Amino acid sequence: MKAVIPAAGLGTRFLPATKAVPKEMLLVYDRPAIQYVVEEGLASDADEVVIVNSHGKKAIEDHFASDADLEALLRERGKHAYADSVESVGAMPVKFVYQDEALGLGHAVLCAAEETADEPFYVLLGDVLVPGNDMLPAMQKVSDEHGGASVIAVMPVPDEEVSRFGVIAGVEVEPGVWKVDSLVEKPPLEEAPTNLAVFGRYLLTPRTMELLRDVKPGVGGEIQLTDALDALLREEEMYALVVSPEDGFDTGTPESWLATNIALAKRAS
Ligand code: G1P
Repeated sequence: MKAVIPAAGLGTRFLPATKAVPKEMLLVYDRPAIQYVVEEGLASDADEVVIVNSHGKKAIEDHFASDADLEALLRERGKHAYADSVESVGAMPVKFVYQDEALGLGHAVLCAAEETADEPFYVLLGDVLVPGNDMLPAMQKVSDEHGGASVIAVMPVPDEEVSRFGVIAGVEVEPGVWKVDSLVEKPPLEEAPTNLAVFGRYLLTPRTMELLRDVKPGVGGEIQLTDALDALLREEEMYALVVSPEDGFDTGTPESWLATNIALAKRAS
């Protein structure tokens, strides 16, 4: 089973910082943001992480490549803890595929289709960090309880934020678990069926990849993962696990990135 991390975006909200440095490589407390996401993927039952990169963001690949010279130099100087950190990040099972046109999240996920083959897969969006690594196992448990169905994490958001997210409609079948009836990407508030927003963690069945091939551009002219999931609902059951803001850290804007840095630094001290 693979964990797919889309990382080909332009990092627009962080310009000019992200002109030369990929957004995913910005430091969050003691490591680049994407390292948390890779670690979360590898802490689950996924055996490999597939990063959907663009060719312009080589720094991400350099970060996960082994660097025997740096390691040897650090060991020579007695800096074994740093050498260990360099060694461990270089040994993470990470594979790269490419999305060189910004055609949307759905298109990014589809770029990993050959890697996920015919197995269920996770999608982890890098705007949210879950350093406790406990969300994917909780989603897997819900899936197991419902015959291997797809499961997405959702979070209640205030009315004024609903139109920034994918939003679900459905019924609560047990506390904190909804059976999803439909999904809509970035609806105007008056058309939003609930205020349960798709949060950036997905456990999806292989059929999702097949459906993605046929998704037409939707909101913003982009191929939306949400639209493929709405199509999937016509064929398969899907569940949503309600998570709360404390379960993850948002790094999607400079302000939330800074707040996350402070929160993680406080946690570590
Ligand atoms: C994407 C998804 C959206 C989801 C959001 C979570 O939107 O399309 O459904 O709610 O991530 O962060 P984006 O933030 O890429 O516009």
